[in-house]
Amino acid sequence: MNDPAGRHRVGIVGLGYVGLPLALAFAEQGSDVIGLDVDSRRVEMVRGGDSYVEDVPATRLAEAVHSGRLAATTNYDDLTAAEAIVVCVPTPLTENRQPDLGPVVDTATSLSRVLRQGQLVVLESTTYPGTTRERLVPLLEESGLAAGRDFHVAYSPERVDPGRSDFTLRNTVKIIGGLTPTCAEQAKALYERVVDDVMVVSTPDAAELAKLLENIFRSVNIALVNELAQLCERMGLDVWEIVDAAATKPFGFMRFEPGPGLGGHCLPVDPFYLSWKARQYDFYTEFIELAGKVNANMPYFCRSLISQALNHGRELSLKGSKVLLLGVSYKADVQDTRESPALKLIELLRNGGAEVAYHDPHVPELPKHGLSSVALEPAEYDCVAIVTAHSSVDYDRVAQEAPLVVDFRNATGKDGHVNGKVWKL
Ligand SMILES: NC(=O)c1ccc[n+]([C@@H]2O[C@H](COP(=O)([O-])OP(=O)(O)OC[C@H]3O[C@@H](n4cnc5c(N)ncnc54)[C@H](O)[C@@H]3O)[C@@H](O)[C@H]2O)c1
Repeated sequence: MNDPAGRHRVGIVGLGYVGLPLALAFAEQGSDVIGLDVDSRRVEMVRGGDSYVEDVPATRLAEAVHSGRLAATTNYDDLTAAEAIVVCVPTPLTENRQPDLGPVVDTATSLSRVLRQGQLVVLESTTYPGTTRERLVPLLEESGLAAGRDFHVAYSPERVDPGRSDFTLRNTVKIIGGLTPTCAEQAKALYERVVDDVMVVSTPDAAELAKLLENIFRSVNIALVNELAQLCERMGLDVWEIVDAAATKPFGFMRFEPGPGLGGHCLPVDPFYLSWKARQYDFYTEFIELAGKVNANMPYFCRSLISQALNHGRELSLKGSKVLLLGVSYKADVQDTRESPALKLIELLRNGGAEVAYHDPHVPELPKHGLSSVALEPAEYDCVAIVTAHSSVDYDRVAQEAPLVVDFRNATGKDGHVNGKVWKL
């Protein structure tokens, strides 16, 4: 897979949360990387060694760019020199909650115009089983080249958890499904440059479904504890105490935590790729739908908790109350606000007549909501709602200074109920 001069060249399409760290990993391993994105601002930032992804330190990005190992472009012609091209473009849902393969289709169409003999194309975007074979391959073959004969195709899902340092690209097994055994071999050789272990499965479809299973597993289990949290609220029990107790079992139980709802680009979206595909087989994925329903209801449940806390704790109605949301990214210690339940909560609280502000050290602005992060002055609000528990925030101070706290993350811990002014999910 090297050129005559012995240089290994990789193209990465889509320089986002998945593509940019991957591009850096290949560059640091010694490949010549060309990253492509349709967003020219991102391309300019990469060229300037300026990182916009938290998992990619600007110093390392700048070093890779300045050493000539990592370049960025908006032009698909620049990918012809690459031996392998990895596609990491978004796979969102349409407004009707159906798979939107637009970016994958656009990429494949553009690639078909520049594809050359011997290249390997790997899709990493999360998608339903069959996408690689049924959608990617026919478009790439518009090049006049045959997949599995003239060029290689594989699917390999991205599995990394953003912001996590114990499990990274390097030490998380990379699943690979090749269109042919040779395609799988080529993809294996590619990824072994940057990961310790690779697992080859029989087909791209199997690799696509394995990734969805991982995300569906999380979505269903989070829904289970979210449902339990709602029941506990009625029964006057502390769901956190119950989860802590159950989690002492060393086998047969895996800890999942309740919260204000699912967020991020993956869990609220990916399971529905499978529901959609299943209908083609007259099959209804009921666990997925039920989990989606329970999780989507959580921001509504949380609004009602805030409302009750104001009512009983302060003798205030939601209408006219000043509510500070603490943390608006979808999970702790990241800047990503995609699908964050905090955004839904802002909307619901505003609909209920509340005056909403937020504080988030990772998210300076929410332009679509016309909000900027304010200084953390808990005493200035009728209620502080802890939506995402970033580790840099002093929750003891919040609990001391705020007149009322509603804690959806158990950030205030066991002492949360002290003085009766902290309400927990
Ligand atoms: N973010 C995660 O934690 C994560 C984890 C596992 C899997 N995934 C999956 O990986 C894929 C990418 O996710 P992401 O979070 O990196 O998305 P992202 O939005 O951060 O990045 C995608 C990039 O692709 C670019 N793009 C869009 N259309 C393009 C095209 N036609 N040609 C070239 N570039 C194009 C966008 O401008 C953007 O920069 C998705 O399928 C996602 O479900 C994401």
